[in-house]
Amino acid sequence: KQVALGVDIGGTNTKYGLVNHRGEILEKGSLKTEEYPDVEDFINALYDKVSPLIMKHCGQRQFDGIGVGAPNANYYTGTIEQAPNLHWKGIVPFAKMMTDKFDVPCKMTNDANAAALGEMMFGAARGMKDFIMMTLGTGVGSGIISNGKLIYGHDGFAGELGHTIVKPGGRKHWSTGSEGSLEAYASATGITITAKKMRAEFPNSMLNDYPEEEVNSKVVFECATKGDPVAIEVFRYTGQKLGEALANFVMFSSPEAILLFGGVIKAGDFIMKPTKLHMERNLFPIFRNKVKLVFSELDEADAAILGASALVWEK
Ligand code: BGC
Ligand code: NA
Repeated sequence: KQVALGVDIGGTNTKYGLVNHRGEILEKGSLKTEEYPDVEDFINALYDKVSPLIMKHCGQRQFDGIGVGAPNANYYTGTIEQAPNLHWKGIVPFAKMMTDKFDVPCKMTNDANAAALGEMMFGAARGMKDFIMMTLGTGVGSGIISNGKLIYGHDGFAGELGHTIVKPGGRKHWSTGSEGSLEAYASATGITITAKKMRAEFPNSMLNDYPEEEVNSKVVFECATKGDPVAIEVFRYTGQKLGEALANFVMFSSPEAILLFGGVIKAGDFIMKPTKLHMERNLFPIFRNKVKLVFSELDEADAAILGASALVWEK
């Protein structure tokens, strides 16, 4: 066991790290997923960034392989299929393309699954056998660990909790067309939509100090920190939708904990408090006040990089 490359592909950014088998990240870096509408260009750009690092840290024989976490990735087939927040449409044979380019084995799983694995091995979920990892970024993803294992399901896609419906007939998803999915509300993209709607209703909100194209979840956080009640309401509403959804997930799989991960958790208590309130309020009494709702313990993206790299050494 020597060194593996862990890659965490997100709708906006891709982060990667060279990892040794003790889970130490030797080198880290990132590139903008969005800038590569062509998947081959993306793989070439990644190769150009990463191969000098591989040369620096390992001789040919020490580089064991690549593990990738990506939206809509299939663990069984190594493909990325119909990802709503990526430019790469259809069925992309990503693992095979990586192997062709890097000349080492490549294994894949869903990005949120990778984060769940990383957190179970090195983070807040150490020692837990039943927990749910929720990733709140450009999209909303999840990894469900049950009895110490990820749930993969019949075709390898189990755990797409971001696409469950939290408001029947609600907000239409920009890509899938579904109505009222959790992702349409609780992702950074969803928060931006909510913020634009609410600022139009409240002309006095600080959110109106920004041009339309600059309004995003980061701006909402800045305004909330400065005390803007409309920005705070954006997170409250988001937390309500998320909390209601989490209550359903708890009743489905009885986790010991739910971990929140991804860019949106920078909003801290603005999102945590309403989420907890609405989760607890909607739980069937036997589940109340038992489930730990916590933020990921690992640095941003590290959980997913570590979890993805661990796929390389998996038996
Ligand atoms: C995708 C998931 C992914 C999540 C977070 C969703 O839109 O369908 O596979 O885990 O975004 O990236
Ligand atoms: Na998943």
